[in-house]
Amino acid sequence: MGSVIAVLSQKGGTGKTTTVRTLTDVLRRVGLDVLAVDLDPQGNLSDYFDIPPEASPTVADVLAGRATAAGAVHDGIIPANLQLAEAELAIAGKMGRELTLRRALKEVRTRYDVVIIDCPPNLGLLTVNALVAADHALLTAEAQYFALQGVEQALEVIELARDGLNPDLNWLGVVFTIADLRTRHSREAHQSLAEHVGEKLFVTSIRQSIAYAESAERAVSILDHRPDLGGDYAALAEELLDRLGLDAERRRVRSLAEELAAA
Ligand SMILES: Nc1ncnc2c1ncn2[C@@H]1O[C@H](COP(=O)(O)OP(=O)(O)O)[C@@H](O)[C@H]1O
Ligand SMILES: [Mg+2]
Repeated sequence: MGSVIAVLSQKGGTGKTTTVRTLTDVLRRVGLDVLAVDLDPQGNLSDYFDIPPEASPTVADVLAGRATAAGAVHDGIIPANLQLAEAELAIAGKMGRELTLRRALKEVRTRYDVVIIDCPPNLGLLTVNALVAADHALLTAEAQYFALQGVEQALEVIELARDGLNPDLNWLGVVFTIADLRTRHSREAHQSLAEHVGEKLFVTSIRQSIAYAESAERAVSILDHRPDLGGDYAALAEELLDRLGLDAERRRVRSLAEELAAA
């Protein structure tokens, strides 16, 4: 049965959506069946995948019980839009509100190798739903002084999910994003994270580049737009698959990383 991975952070602008988009691309290119789930009312992931804004049903309909998850998949993604903010309010008053997404994905997850959930830019009910639905949590931290603080807060919410509703939730690690390791600022943030989370910090950092904004705007994968930069995500995917124990896939990603570097 497929692994469900929630990608989260305590705030916006840490590269969550870019990470979900690009990991989805990398894993699909090595033959894995990947479902991406947009769980942010801003719908950035849906935009990155060029899903039309009027696509329906969306994840809001799924959480509200008006659609099945399988019925809400458009081109490999369950999209989101502002209606998700209403759906969040509606489920907030219900019994078992933290379990809504887990129940909704129960059947559809068996059809995929990997399900990746893009969380909203806060640690509220939607993110808790993602953590309760997930097998693995992946944190993103941007190269800023406050990165560590954000990671610590996200870890507290992971602990809450484990203590209560999802004891088997595995913390995969932290990926350091939007990094310019030539600057002291970036290096110091990296250093303090490394000291606090040790081996949970992925060796691969995602380098900062304006090319990410361009690729998002054009809804073109960074793997095509700038294969040399996309190689960062291939290297990250390699580490990720290693942590997931998927060795054959890890070797295929290795070859993809070499192709991208040569492009
Ligand atoms: N490696 C990167 N270098 C430069 N800009 C980036 C990088 N990754 C993401 N961005 C940009 O930073 C902004 C926030 O990224 P995004 O993935 O949407 O973060 P989040 O989902 O955490 O809010 C976007 O404008 C995106 O294009
Ligand atoms: Mg986002």
